[in-house]
Amino acid sequence: AAAEKGGYEHFMLKEIHEQPRAIREATAARIQGGQVVLRDLNMTDQQIRDINKIFIVACGSSYHVGMVGKYNLERMLRRSVEVCLASEFRYSDPIVGKGDLVIVISQSGETLDTMAALREAKRRGAHILSIVNVVGSSIARESHTVLYTWAGPEIAVATTKAYSTQMAVLNLLGLYFSQVMGTLDHEVYSAMVRGIEKLPEQMERILEQAEHIHDIAKRCAGREDVFFIGRNLDYALSLEGSLKLKEISYIHSEAYASGELKHGTISLIEDGTLVIALGTYTPLFDKAMSNVVEVQARGAQVLALTTESHAGEMGKRVPMLMTIPDTEEMLLPQLGVVPLQLLSYYIALERGCDIDKPRNLAKSVTVE
Ligand code: G6P
Repeated sequence: AAAEKGGYEHFMLKEIHEQPRAIREATAARIQGGQVVLRDLNMTDQQIRDINKIFIVACGSSYHVGMVGKYNLERMLRRSVEVCLASEFRYSDPIVGKGDLVIVISQSGETLDTMAALREAKRRGAHILSIVNVVGSSIARESHTVLYTWAGPEIAVATTKAYSTQMAVLNLLGLYFSQVMGTLDHEVYSAMVRGIEKLPEQMERILEQAEHIHDIAKRCAGREDVFFIGRNLDYALSLEGSLKLKEISYIHSEAYASGELKHGTISLIEDGTLVIALGTYTPLFDKAMSNVVEVQARGAQVLALTTESHAGEMGKRVPMLMTIPDTEEMLLPQLGVVPLQLLSYYIALERGCDIDKPRNLAKSVTVE
């Protein structure tokens, strides 16, 4: 069993460390000479240009990838994107049909609710494009178009490399569509492509901070309530950070859009409450800073995540800080998720939890 884990104590840690390679597998062959090339995308340019509505449908962490995808696809395509929980979509008499694109995201390709949502959308005439990890899985087989994530087998129940590669593939899809639709500034497109090419090496640099993050985890492991806050892409990322933490450490954790603090959550902040403040999204860094100050004024202890270029400023205010290298705005969650995965892992380790097989959870939920 130790050999299977490649010398790591848990599959989750092994899979966290496999991410640079997984991202390379998912992206390298799909970028040629600075252009996104999707050979497995069996859609004509006309079909792409004619897309009516865009939906993203998934469960769990795959749904959180969809949340990031909404921000990025809307920005790249200037089209509105609706993100739906598969378990809700399937029973909602969805307003979807011919000409609409339904992007289904699933690591296993077997999640029952996701499959049911797919069938519902397909029955109504939508084009089903799935982003799947397991080759030949049911969802892959029933889709019109499949883009594989090529992350390799994921064993730990808590997803890490599948989440990262789903996001990478969705970004590539957005870039590809943007080219066909002519909606993204050429400079931004090229910078995104270069940014994606740099991700594996930048992820390696984050992984080198594992010991620092372990130290922070030791200081956080005794908590019973944690709040994640963030705006825009940091909000989307906070949903995944919070889920990761609660699923493996059993700490009660919630994610809030920072702007909603005043509408309720702030009443839960008392002396010593741990707030994990995500401040990676550069355009709103100042807002992130003021929310940090705001919760600190109510006694919160803050752990912040930000980029290297903002680390100095954030570091002056917070006692605990994790940083990621600077990258293109739309790629920040690709890097930001890595320290959050390590944080959850080390907190769960300190708490003596069964990290690879958390109680009551399954890798793939094939029942309702
Ligand atoms: C389970 C797993 C999660 C996963 C979700 C959706 O709850 O524990 O990690 O995000 O199912 O799974 P899928 O295979 O459809 O991505």
